[in-house]
Amino acid sequence: MRAVEFQEYGDPEVLKVVQVETPEPGPGEVTVDAAYAGVNFADLKARAAGYRVESLPFRPGLEVSGRIRAVGHGVEGLRPGQDVVALVNHGAYAEVVVAQAATVFPLPEGLDPRTAAALPTVLPTAHALIHEVGRLRAGESVLVHGAAGGVGTVAGQLARAAGAGAVYGVVSSPAKAGHALKHGYDEVFTADTFSDDVRRATDGRGVDLVLDPVGGDTLRRGLDALAVFGRLVSFGNASGAEPWHVGQPELYTQGRSVAGLSVLALAQSAPEALRALSERAFRTVTDGTVSLPVTAEFPLSDAAGAHRLMGGRTSMGKLLLRTAD
Ligand SMILES: NC(=O)c1ccc[n+]([C@@H]2O[C@H](COP(=O)([O-])OP(=O)(O)OC[C@H]3O[C@@H](n4cnc5c(N)ncnc54)[C@H](OP(=O)(O)O)[C@@H]3O)[C@@H](O)[C@H]2O)c1
Repeated sequence: MRAVEFQEYGDPEVLKVVQVETPEPGPGEVTVDAAYAGVNFADLKARAAGYRVESLPFRPGLEVSGRIRAVGHGVEGLRPGQDVVALVNHGAYAEVVVAQAATVFPLPEGLDPRTAAALPTVLPTAHALIHEVGRLRAGESVLVHGAAGGVGTVAGQLARAAGAGAVYGVVSSPAKAGHALKHGYDEVFTADTFSDDVRRATDGRGVDLVLDPVGGDTLRRGLDALAVFGRLVSFGNASGAEPWHVGQPELYTQGRSVAGLSVLALAQSAPEALRALSERAFRTVTDGTVSLPVTAEFPLSDAAGAHRLMGGRTSMGKLLLRTAD
């Protein structure tokens, strides 16, 4: 079968199509004949900087839709021929993908494989950021960095549906601002001025919740943009900054909280919690609360094209790889 791997870290060109043996599922695993794989920012971080890479060559890809090919020992409730969508630890850029049964889901009702492939990573992430971790209450305000990207496009809509009093986004271009404003956001700011913009928009009060995938200085300024008793959830480090440390001085004075989330870590540490979260999150798409537009699709053989688009900071919504050429 064909897969996309890299042997060394670097630009998108290090992604190569390779012929490898078709895998068989181990105990507790299934194999999926892939239709589509989602592209995530974490795939770019893996390729460029070795994020979550244990050894080379490495096959990126965290999510896939397709049809179950084979089922390993001990797997219950899934059968060959079933249409599914799955979150995987890595390796979704391939014609056949190995997945832990715990994170394989029957194709959500009414969804086609193309729409579904966009969901397993960013949708549960956004749901947890707004609800389980961020605990947004009706009337509260929220600020979301990367508002036009995969997570951001969903987070804005979920915040709006949760009855947020105001939904603010941060984006890097006017085109992205237009996209965010169509997906739940009331107002959109740029990274250089967002803390002042928040103060202005909230009459000096600050926001109740900040969702931060950037880290570093942006995280620090996000803390400053919080209202009294505000919460910040860190869920990424797009800036590549050193790991952050927050202590008593930043938190005690105004009763602030900082939380963190990684759905990939959750898949390892608490797969049942991730499964329940994902099922709740999928329902927000099947009931029409949320949509996640696929704005570009690439053949598997041009995974580099998808990485160039996202890495150039021009992508919006979700990018997919199609297995069929
Ligand atoms: N913790 C989790 O469980 C989890 C799960 C999924 C994703 N994530 C994180 O969430 C973020 C979005 O992921 P995604 O896959 O949906 O990607 P995406 O948002 O579709 O695309 C990448 C995003 O990163 C922003 N960006 C790129 N380079 C940046 C830089 N140097 N500094 C600041 N922002 C930069 C871009 O926003 P602008 O160009 O508008 O700044 C863009 O929104 C990523 O940081 C990812 O690692 C975390």
